[in-house]
Amino acid sequence: MATHDAVEVILAKRGGGELSESQIDWVIDAYTRGEVADEQMSALAMAILLNGMERHEISRWTAAMIASGERMDFSALSRPTADKHSTGGVGDKITLPLAPLVAACGVAVPQLSGRGLGHTGGTLDKLEAIPGWRAALSNDEMLAQLESVGAVICAAGDGLAPADKKLYALRDVTGTVEAIPLIASSIMSKKIAEGTGSLVLDVKVGTGAFMKDESTARELAETMVALGQDAGVHTVALMTDMSTPLGLTAGNAVEVAESVEVLAGGGPADVVELTLALAREMLAGAGRGDIDPADKLADGSAMDVWGQMIRAQGGDPDAPLPQARESHVVSAPASGVLTRLDAMAVGLAAWRLGAGRARKEDPVQAGAGVVWHARPGDPVTEGAPLLTLLTDEPERFERALASLEGGFDIGESASYAERPLLIDRVD
Ligand code: URA
Repeated sequence: MATHDAVEVILAKRGGGELSESQIDWVIDAYTRGEVADEQMSALAMAILLNGMERHEISRWTAAMIASGERMDFSALSRPTADKHSTGGVGDKITLPLAPLVAACGVAVPQLSGRGLGHTGGTLDKLEAIPGWRAALSNDEMLAQLESVGAVICAAGDGLAPADKKLYALRDVTGTVEAIPLIASSIMSKKIAEGTGSLVLDVKVGTGAFMKDESTARELAETMVALGQDAGVHTVALMTDMSTPLGLTAGNAVEVAESVEVLAGGGPADVVELTLALAREMLAGAGRGDIDPADKLADGSAMDVWGQMIRAQGGDPDAPLPQARESHVVSAPASGVLTRLDAMAVGLAAWRLGAGRARKEDPVQAGAGVVWHARPGDPVTEGAPLLTLLTDEPERFERALASLEGGFDIGESASYAERPLLIDRVD
């Protein structure tokens, strides 16, 4: 590999120029090895945030991050593979019903997931509410479970895109997270290294999402879809609303319970709609578009796979889920129609109640969270329960209640305008 100088690479991007393939390969490799210092990579990340990158630069940057670690290979499996990635939202438990549902349709789902940081929840934190369930699997265990059960949700090992791990932590503390080339390459390097044959991206738009407006969300979706296709992974993106939280719960155990309702053929209509929309995309991407996933929810086969998937990782799907020791009910201050429930307000409340963490080493409470008793568009009656806050530590209620101030509106039914959940599809 050609050798460059970190300052030369920074100056090239600072001046608004394009980085060469050789500069990109070198800087990612040298940063992973510790030869390029954090302060140099910070300067480069800021230059990228300010001056952007061309599509071919992002593609090379992604390939270099993949090359910094191992690449998994599921080609020996007897079924095709499909995965889904969400850019993160509030009440976004979709992975839980989706993975067993798609597996029940004959497509294997290798779902490497993360823990929550900030107001958005993490899939692993949710599943860890199930007594006995463990997130860490070796690559061999993962492969064996994909063959026998068809679905695995587990923690990504340290070997996958280590350059991204280092760079993401640096971006977090240098104000350089919000650069579309860096977000897109970060997400896609991990997904491509994971080795899935097809990928569906759920790009969230709204107050509770990373991308607050449709045009930046679309740019991110288009960039990620192009990266996937450049790498030979069949990739499509759905842009979906995240101004309202999904379902009726945000937290850990409460979201597992809601997911099980969906697998049992019930559950909130928006969670079912998004689960089925993503399942159809995953099945089409894996060449099984002829199967209707709604049938597998109705006939109980998705629920059977859920039970097998949880048991295979040490969990007891029939054990009672942990419950918070304390609860606090917020009553509706007026009668009318709930015209708005803000995803960010609910996400922050759940986080402050202990469902999420402030630092990545903090523990989370399995029982903490928020349950809402009406969705936008539903009638509400003054004095009736609107939200229930759950935590083991009652001193947390005050800050959670503060985050809900201004977080919902009750009005006349004529003032309610329904927002579509599915905003657009990018392929
Ligand atoms: N998620 C990631 O994995 N990387 C980012 O840069 C942003 C969100």
